[in-house]
Amino acid sequence: VRRVTVPQIARRKGGEPIVSLTSYHAHTAAIVDRYADFILVGDSLGMVMHGMESTVGVSLELMIMHGRAVVRGTKKALIVVDMPFGTYEESPAVAFRNAAQIMKETQCGAVKLEGGARMAETIRFLTERGIPVMAHIGLTPQSSHVMGGFKTQGRDEETWESHLEDARAVAEAGAFAVVLEGMVEPLAAKITKAVEIPTIGIGASAECDGQILVLEDMLGLNPWTPKFVKVYGQLGPMIEDSVKRYAEDVKSRAFPTEDEIYR
Ligand code: KIV
Ligand code: NA
Repeated sequence: VRRVTVPQIARRKGGEPIVSLTSYHAHTAAIVDRYADFILVGDSLGMVMHGMESTVGVSLELMIMHGRAVVRGTKKALIVVDMPFGTYEESPAVAFRNAAQIMKETQCGAVKLEGGARMAETIRFLTERGIPVMAHIGLTPQSSHVMGGFKTQGRDEETWESHLEDARAVAEAGAFAVVLEGMVEPLAAKITKAVEIPTIGIGASAECDGQILVLEDMLGLNPWTPKFVKVYGQLGPMIEDSVKRYAEDVKSRAFPTEDEIYR
């Protein structure tokens, strides 16, 4: 099977909604691969997998390590890898060097970076040199220290124009899609109508051209999830129950039994 391509995602604008989830490992990615158009190796892995308080501490090496695992575990979906904080903001040249390293070492199909109008020059620099870029605007977690936390965007209608400018700027610069994170529905609807590239929503309503969620959130692996997450499974309690019963069995010598030993 050939993988989903960047132009195939771009052509889905206004069509059947694009399905996406994050994944950080070969085993979960193999399952997601059967249903998703693209899989994002998100820098949310810093918080979800590595217990960090924000995504700011995530390194290029960590993204590459998880990116390789996801590429190895999949065959159908387009794999998009997040550029971590500090690896692309400085200049287009620095961004290119780091994005190229991600693509070479993971064999992913595209990278994602946060920022609108201010990142347009970099997005153009990368796409003109063979690196497809997914943009990410609205609530951008890598700037949470500047914004003073994770805040829903667009509650004040006066801010809409600057978000619209961000969306137009990244589309004009050559981004093949744009993630809209944490924004009010009417703003997401306006942006989706204003740009010719697909919008991928997370906490941004069904007005977007596609949806993405953090896999661990929708699987119930986090004790708390934001309002915009629909929890489709309760894996946390399932793991807890299994580990608890294993511990009991070991202590009572109920495990291993005849079935699990070599005679
Ligand atoms: O890092 C991530 O998981 C993301 C998605 C939430 C879009 O950027
Ligand atoms: Na991210």
